[in-house]
Amino acid sequence: MTDITRDVVIIGAGAAGTTAANQLRKAGLTVAVLEARDRVGGRLWTDVIEGAMLEIGGQWVSPDQDALKETIEELGLETFSRYREGDSVYVGPDGQLHRFTGEMFPVSAETEAVIAEITERLDAMVAEIDPDKPWEHPNAQEWDSVTWDAWLRAQTDDDEAVRNLAFATGSAMLTKPTHTFSLLQSLLMAASAGSYSNLVDADFILDKRVVGGLQQVPQALAARLGDDVFLNSPVRFLEWGDEGVVAHADGDLTVRARYAILAHAPVLYDRISFVPSLPRRQHQLHQHLSMGFVIKVHAVYDRPFWREQGLSGTAFSPYELSHEAYDNTNHGDERGTLVGFVSDQNADDLFTLSAEERKERILESLSHYYGPEAKNPVVYYESDWGTEEWTRGAYAASFDMGGLHRYGADLRAAVGPIHFACSDMAGAGYQHVDGAIRMGRLAAANILAADGS
Ligand code: FDA
Repeated sequence: MTDITRDVVIIGAGAAGTTAANQLRKAGLTVAVLEARDRVGGRLWTDVIEGAMLEIGGQWVSPDQDALKETIEELGLETFSRYREGDSVYVGPDGQLHRFTGEMFPVSAETEAVIAEITERLDAMVAEIDPDKPWEHPNAQEWDSVTWDAWLRAQTDDDEAVRNLAFATGSAMLTKPTHTFSLLQSLLMAASAGSYSNLVDADFILDKRVVGGLQQVPQALAARLGDDVFLNSPVRFLEWGDEGVVAHADGDLTVRARYAILAHAPVLYDRISFVPSLPRRQHQLHQHLSMGFVIKVHAVYDRPFWREQGLSGTAFSPYELSHEAYDNTNHGDERGTLVGFVSDQNADDLFTLSAEERKERILESLSHYYGPEAKNPVVYYESDWGTEEWTRGAYAASFDMGGLHRYGADLRAAVGPIHFACSDMAGAGYQHVDGAIRMGRLAAANILAADGS
């Protein structure tokens, strides 16, 4: 039995929790970080699989992600650019492969004009939205009442244009079918990256990686906390009241503190028994958030063979099982790595198959982009966050239809001594590590303000 007392107990040692803990420590408060898993990092997880270093979770850093960039710099980590020399490829509705350069897919002139016109309109709508308060836009309710798919289909009859516009926030980001979330949720996703154009620009959104892996960010932050990080310590009960909180974790660990930060995905709040229970508003709002689902596929080859064909490795198709794929070769590695993504219902369907059939179907899809050599990787691995008890999906959580304008304003609001921090409730950096760091900083700042520190 371990019974300790701290100023703040932080539940979750991902980017949000480790950031918050460091901020509070710097301000002179004592902390304990309780982590359910046997490692820190949460959705950041760099591992070696059959001799290949893989980013099983998050990896990319984009130029707008100031909070993450500051943290990377402060920790002295090095970044490198994603390989992007040569042609990108696109598979059209007829199954034909097309090579292209630049941001616009090689579609017909009519479809290109439709995509450009709707993109311009979306950029204008996104520019009106404050990513930290999308619910305050005068059209918030209206935009939260129409699905992303229905709104796009009301703009044009061009199916190829709709599919290409839809997947930027659908399969590629929220990783849910486009009929299950609203236009407002889609606009928030775009606003969190600065504009819709930024979000669809792979050279922007998938710009850099950290040499040695992005998990080093929470690992380095946790290392500064030393013995105040407790692994294998899922919190099961949280007593709370005017005097503070008492967190009860596995391993007979009890932490008494004046404040708590729940620094994990909101879909996991109901894994904790709150005593007394959380208020009505939180009970309701937490039920309207759910995780998306995507399989991140890693295929390592003895060399980056696609580069020999003048290909950058960047591949898109709303008609393919793997709707996007990239050159994901590690810094200084002679071998070549491709990363592909299979989202939402396609991911559901794949998990009804055997592991062998799944691998065959995914590699077949990659071969449509890169040719038959793609079918023979030396290392193959699927990141399946759906089976991870302490995450339950990927990349992050988003509101169902109507939920964002109805509940969004209360998502980050503290309940007594309990504060909330996670990438899934960020404005800028939403669903990204940048957002997790911003939310960690915000929760720490709010506690320091409440505490008069
Ligand atoms: P996170 O979920 O990481 O951490 C929460 C922690 O709390 C976990 O360690 C969990 O175990 C713990 N926990 C939960 N319940 C608990 C309990 N009851 N008691 C104790 N501990 C508990 N982002 C990006 O910027 N660039 C990218 O390229 C990608 N790509 C990407 C790919 C994949 C496959 C995934 C899954 C995710 C990404 N992301 C990403 C998203 C990014 O990884 C994510 O937004 C942040 O890492 C989330 O950090 P948080 O700290 O908010 O939560």
